[in-house]
Amino acid sequence: MISAVLDTQGEHPQQPAGERPAHSVAVPGGKTLLPLARQNPNRKRVLFVTSEIADLVKTGGLGDVSAALPRAMAHLHDVRVLIPGYPQVLHSENPIHIIGELSGHAALPACQIGRMDMPDGLVIYVLICPELYEREGTPYGANNGRDWPDNHIRFARLGLAAADIAANLAQIHWCPDLVHAHDWPAGLAPAYMHWRGQRTPTLFTIHNLAYQGVVSLASCPELGIPEHALQQEGMEFYGKLSFLKAGMAYASHITTVSATYAQEITTPAFGCGLDGFLASKTQQGLLSGIPNGIDESWDATTDPHLVCRFSIGDWDGKAANAAHVRQMFGLDASNGPLFAVVSRLVYQKGLDLTEAVAEFIVESAGQIAIIGRGEPEEEQSMRALARRFPGRIGVHIGFNETDARRMFAGSDFLLMPSRYEPCGLSQMYAQRFGSLPVARNTGGLADTIENGVTGFLFDESTVASYQQALTRAFKVFAYPALLNAMRCRAMAAPFNWCKAVEPYAELYEQLVAKALGQAARQ
Ligand code: ADP
Ligand code: GLC
Repeated sequence: MISAVLDTQGEHPQQPAGERPAHSVAVPGGKTLLPLARQNPNRKRVLFVTSEIADLVKTGGLGDVSAALPRAMAHLHDVRVLIPGYPQVLHSENPIHIIGELSGHAALPACQIGRMDMPDGLVIYVLICPELYEREGTPYGANNGRDWPDNHIRFARLGLAAADIAANLAQIHWCPDLVHAHDWPAGLAPAYMHWRGQRTPTLFTIHNLAYQGVVSLASCPELGIPEHALQQEGMEFYGKLSFLKAGMAYASHITTVSATYAQEITTPAFGCGLDGFLASKTQQGLLSGIPNGIDESWDATTDPHLVCRFSIGDWDGKAANAAHVRQMFGLDASNGPLFAVVSRLVYQKGLDLTEAVAEFIVESAGQIAIIGRGEPEEEQSMRALARRFPGRIGVHIGFNETDARRMFAGSDFLLMPSRYEPCGLSQMYAQRFGSLPVARNTGGLADTIENGVTGFLFDESTVASYQQALTRAFKVFAYPALLNAMRCRAMAAPFNWCKAVEPYAELYEQLVAKALGQAARQ
């Protein structure tokens, strides 16, 4: 719901920022207000630029991180989110007040900025531009899986809006000390800011190096890209334009979402053609890894989505969830292990390997429940797998949070044979709910799974390597004392945002201090 009145104060009428209590308090409806960062003398205003947020619209982990990290930082910094006004955002139950207007630039249309206050106090700035964003589908494409052909315009507009807000052009009475942009859709934010000589520092976080937003050089005039940007140190990428490279080239600092991935992407095997560029950023101290966490809703003792809540040691409670998952997927009753796949169905996730080991799992008395959507060919293969093994393998093409959570709670093992995994959240969710991941030893999986203690890691992207890890999982399943000991360790693993909040907060403060120092010297 959008209120058409231009609110020139730029603040929500009923809930002005700065009027909330210093600590979280419960408000009617059971919601909790975010704490305010007033106690922190180094408090910064941070604009968090993203293409998804789980509260409103998500296709994967970026949405989860965008919902959790600004909230986890609320006691230290004033972090506000900027997101395009897709239908899922505009038609959510939270009112939107128009607070500013931005003019067009090159082929990027003019737009409005709306403000949405989430019930817990998180402020979301909504980029309203119906011709670009009001379309049925995902943030990136139509429901048939095809990307929108004008994504370069759609997300350039997002980047430019962030730059405009940082330059106070929107006059929304809030100007960030730092802009934190995420993945290729926000890549042009640091770029426009650099080209316009804006001094506000920028942080760019890579959640997935493989999605780069590459377009033809012919788009330069439409996007208002200056000629000097078309060089190796700029956004030129093998004779094209890369939004991702723009973010990395012009940001004051780059992070990615795990320590191992930060190192991997500087090698040819994982660098997607950018390894040399990233290795040089690492040498200059401009690239670091900060792991994601998981939020407090991942608690099996309180999660309202579960058919039966359970605590560490209550394996009957866990079994009740397993029975529900078997029923939901049309699987036979069984005493064997239940494996879950909760995933975007894309090449990255190594689903072809799971397809190849499925027969082994079924012959060893295991069952598999699969939920997800993604590339049409991958969806087809998963459907075919379920047809091959009725009662043993079940597939739901689609996604919903309740089913996903029930699957983490009901399964014994989570299959995650990713070819690469920048961080991965599903393996942390699974562990928290007592499902042991069987996963490739790469990226964030390597950093968050203790091999043989909280899950099973395998090194090679091959059926043989995967099958060895599965054999170990079956052996553990046959010894309930061992299985339960591993479940206890997994459920108690300390995944939360605390570990990430401190390094991000420090980085925000350092980058702002550095930019102020530079400005003072000029
Ligand atoms: P990625 O971001 O690469 O998909 P993560 O493990 O970081 O992997 O995050 C996965 C998150 O996205 C989890 O919350 C998971 O439940 C959710 N998810 C998985 N598949 C889908 C899907 N097809 N659509 C929407 N969300 C999904
Ligand atoms: C990406 C990555 C995933 C990561 C997520 C959130 O989608 O594929 O590994 O956990 O972003 O950072």
